[in-house]
Amino acid sequence: MPIAGRFITFEGGEGAGKSTQLTRLAERLGATGASVLSLREPGGTPFGEKMRDVLKQPGSVIQPAAEALLFAACRAQLVADVITPALAGGQVVLCDRFIDSTVAYQSGGRGLDRGLIESANRLACGPLRPDLTILLDLDPASGLGRASVRDHGQADRFEVLGAVFHQEVRAVYHALAKEEPARFFIVDASRPAETIAEEIWHEVARRFR
Ligand code: TMP
Repeated sequence: MPIAGRFITFEGGEGAGKSTQLTRLAERLGATGASVLSLREPGGTPFGEKMRDVLKQPGSVIQPAAEALLFAACRAQLVADVITPALAGGQVVLCDRFIDSTVAYQSGGRGLDRGLIESANRLACGPLRPDLTILLDLDPASGLGRASVRDHGQADRFEVLGAVFHQEVRAVYHALAKEEPARFFIVDASRPAETIAEEIWHEVARRFR
């Protein structure tokens, strides 16, 4: 499969199954002989992993603008140090969350100006855009329930936010997918993981065959 140097991101609300699906796709691509790099945001660099703890810690008191800039800072570091060299070297890069998370959560959920968030994304990424974004779409009530089981009831700083916040995040994801239908592939994440993994595999094979 001529997928070398492609960049695929996974997006969605809490508990939608992004990391499970990313792992499955990575395994399947790896079995075809592709060199796959799996990353997550925030994270993927020593700086990003430290910031991940700060950003997810329920006790952290962070202003919305500071939060948006921290996500952008993590992204700038990850793009320059890891993603750009990996793509140039022919690896397939899979990333759990990317630019769309900041638009959905900080502009949608937090209500910050979308133009400013997009400027921060451009500052962090330059011209880099995902070749494909897989949106795992799930009703926030189900997703938060799943996340709570997964985390044994230990909700992080975003999971504790109410239904209105998470409904807004979902609405912005839908709007983004509508604006860029060629980049997004929306998946109904309420179905069994196996079914979803098959659907994603077929789409990846169709696009990059
Ligand atoms: P997760 O990757 O385990 O879902 O945790 C990351 C959390 O950070 C999640 O609640 C979404 C949030 N987030 C943002 O609010 N903005 C961003 O730009 C990113 C990357 C994540």
